[in-house]
Amino acid sequence: MLIRIRRSSDLRESDVTPEAVYQDRRRFLQTSVLAAAGAALGPTALAAPAGMLGPLRKSPFSTDEEPNDFADITGYNNFYEFGYDKADPARHAPKLLRTEPWTVAIGGECARPGKLAVEDLTRGIALEERIYRLRCVEGWSMVIPWVGVPLAAVLQRYQPTSRAKFVEFVTLHDPEQMPYQRRGGLPWPYREGLRIDEAMHPLTMLAVGLYGKPLPAQNGAPLRLVVPWKYGFKSIKSIVAINFVEQQPRTTWSLAAPREYGFYANVNPEVDHPRWSQKRERRIGHLFKQDTLMFNGYGEQVAQLYAGMDLRKYF
Ligand code: MTE
Repeated sequence: MLIRIRRSSDLRESDVTPEAVYQDRRRFLQTSVLAAAGAALGPTALAAPAGMLGPLRKSPFSTDEEPNDFADITGYNNFYEFGYDKADPARHAPKLLRTEPWTVAIGGECARPGKLAVEDLTRGIALEERIYRLRCVEGWSMVIPWVGVPLAAVLQRYQPTSRAKFVEFVTLHDPEQMPYQRRGGLPWPYREGLRIDEAMHPLTMLAVGLYGKPLPAQNGAPLRLVVPWKYGFKSIKSIVAINFVEQQPRTTWSLAAPREYGFYANVNPEVDHPRWSQKRERRIGHLFKQDTLMFNGYGEQVAQLYAGMDLRKYF
């Protein structure tokens, strides 16, 4: 697979926080600001300076692996609504995607369906920073410091019924803002889905930011899914609808190429993509490939969700 080298011209200067700056800021926040904020924030919260999200709780689910730098995370993207090249989303999405106002509709098999502003969806739920590995089905990976909330905390508010066996997510459909939706290629709008127990799993989150800041457009502003033990294509961006459903929802990549992309899409080095091996991956910014881990290294937390399932059949 071809890894494209990012050009610095793809990013505006204001978008780029060098990692060293972030690490310094983080260290600073953890000590002086937190001390000043006092006990009200609790020992695991980070206060937020202007333009930053917060206060942020630190999560026990975070990896201590080195995060990729902001420039890579926001400059090397898949967001096919804005183009097929890895640099296209950063080049086009910030100019084209209007994220304010943004409404999310929650419906289907639940007692309290509703339509609400994205700020209200997460209001009252403590924001967390979670540093997760992301493994793309194409064979590259990153480590990303997300900011968000557990998806379960949001979903429970709408009181899913016993018929809610799956959750479906849908991206905005607006070819004016997302020009590649005019082109076919994929069945638009982008759709994804999880089994209800996967959606309610404590590792599954709705992200509203990264590196302490609101999500850049190219990363799926203002709201995206993050499911760290599944291939990155499950982490649907710029969500406008969440539906509780009884039947397994149809998802974009499994509609487009059913033999190549399944509904489950758990990271699995033992099940190759029909056209390439999944045994190893290239961490962006690293020279050498590394082994891919079962469930992307989150097996201890999630393997029991698939007990007894043939993961070659349910790939
Ligand atoms: N969501 C939408 N709406 N459109 C997309 O093209 N690409 C997916 C996923 N979510 C995609 C999407 C794929 S293939 C990956 S690997 C991740 O987003 C990439 O997320 P990132 O660009 O923030 O790293």
